[in-house]
Amino acid sequence: MKQESDAEGRRDFLKKASAVAIGGIITMAPIAAGVRVALDPLKRAGGGKQRLKVTNLESLPNDGIPRKFAIIASRSDAWNRYPEAPVGAVYLRRTGEQTVEALNVVCPHAGCFVDFRPEKKGYFCPCHNSVFAMDGKIADPKSPSPRGLDELKVEVNGSEVWVEFQNFRTGSAEKIPVA
Ligand code: FES
Repeated sequence: MKQESDAEGRRDFLKKASAVAIGGIITMAPIAAGVRVALDPLKRAGGGKQRLKVTNLESLPNDGIPRKFAIIASRSDAWNRYPEAPVGAVYLRRTGEQTVEALNVVCPHAGCFVDFRPEKKGYFCPCHNSVFAMDGKIADPKSPSPRGLDELKVEVNGSEVWVEFQNFRTGSAEKIPVA
């Protein structure tokens, strides 16, 4: 009799212990995802890729010189909505009446922001001296960057300039989107 009730007690204990363990796993998964979202500004802004209105054509004179624009996005996570905040920047260059080229300002070597140098008609990364041409391609073979600057999709809608903003993995020869 006593043996039977001991066995029953052990079964009860095991049932309760597995329920607690499974409950813990189910609870931890959304918490882990929430922490990741909270730590990544683009995730907070609603995903890795965002289509955003950046400026109007009037702000981009047809002189071949790129202009730098901050990318501002509204942010939200599972719990809160945040005011709009900068999540990156792009260089926009007018290439025709209705055409614009966009480059992410992030250097693909290690993530510093590149500067445009009008006298050299190209971009320069101050961190480790990578040099890029006006179209973003590597201009100096000694540049440590494994690829050229990342071009982004642009849509000109009337006079509005919309950019599909996305960051890509640094340190890789391939253009791999950051999810
Ligand atoms: S981060 Fe640009 S060259 Fe290293």
